[in-house]
Amino acid sequence: MTKVGFPDVRPRRLRSTPALRRLAAETHVQPSQMILPMFVREGLTEPRPISSLPGVFQHSRDSLRKAAVDAVNSGVGGLMLFGVPAERDPEGSAGVDPNGILNVAIRDVVAEVGDATVVMSDLCLDEFTSHGHCGVLAPDGTVATLAVYAEMALAQADAGAHMLGPSGMMDGQVGVARRALDKAGRTDVAILAYTAKYASAFFGPFREAVESALEGDRKTYQMDPANAREALLELELDIAEGADIVMVKPALPYLDIVRRVADTVNVPVAAYQVSGEYAMVEAAAANGWIDRERAIVETLTSIRRAGAEMILTYWAAEVSRLV
Ligand code: PBG
Repeated sequence: MTKVGFPDVRPRRLRSTPALRRLAAETHVQPSQMILPMFVREGLTEPRPISSLPGVFQHSRDSLRKAAVDAVNSGVGGLMLFGVPAERDPEGSAGVDPNGILNVAIRDVVAEVGDATVVMSDLCLDEFTSHGHCGVLAPDGTVATLAVYAEMALAQADAGAHMLGPSGMMDGQVGVARRALDKAGRTDVAILAYTAKYASAFFGPFREAVESALEGDRKTYQMDPANAREALLELELDIAEGADIVMVKPALPYLDIVRRVADTVNVPVAAYQVSGEYAMVEAAAANGWIDRERAIVETLTSIRRAGAEMILTYWAAEVSRLV
């Protein structure tokens, strides 16, 4: 670097007008980079507010279709669907049932918005199991489950999902879904891998959103927040197993992981700004403690700056109004 300094160099010069700041901005937040997570609850006739996620709803099948259209019209890049069944069992069988709520909702949304956006679905059992774990429990209480994931992947592909999000943090889950899809001739269906998903307190409000029955925690399968290098091992495995996109989750408390992943791979990187991240900003804003819209844009900008090309965020449909 050349040896220069004040007063010849004045970084403030490029900050002096909105036009200069816009021109000099290194990072942009675009609606097309945002993916909207959406919840559909079996048996609802009206959307039901989720108290810990103000502004987010459990949808009925009808209101989901409408909200999907609105989101597409606001320019989002994709939708990630989560299903909440009326009945659960230890095997999570509603997840593989073609008439299970999530598979039905995928069909509804694809029929409504078709190829105008990327329709994604959560490939995990926790919404469907009576014990709330991401897989089937072995007799000794451990969680293991790959065969069901293969079946569930096919059910979601049949329903019309363009991309599947295996979110259970089971070893080998990406490979098992990829092989099942390929064997069925569905080489077109992509996989968004939850590569580094941490056992996080920031998933709190999501539990209400999916009426989770979970007792205990997910520490035996999700990553320890203390670990960064281990995320790179997960990354190597997911790429080898055929992940099309890799994801870090949560986002803001793990920006260092987003950066390390982005510096390492040659596939797109996503980050999931999770329920607790959303709830913190909404709660502080509701109290008048922070400027809501500035805080939203700042968090999304930071996640983009750390290296994520795409962001799952409950604010996705609002971004077009904010940037
Ligand atoms: C599991 C899943 C979870 C989230 C997305 N997928 C919950 C968990 O792992 O405990 C959390 C998302 C959020 O908090 O917004 N299917």
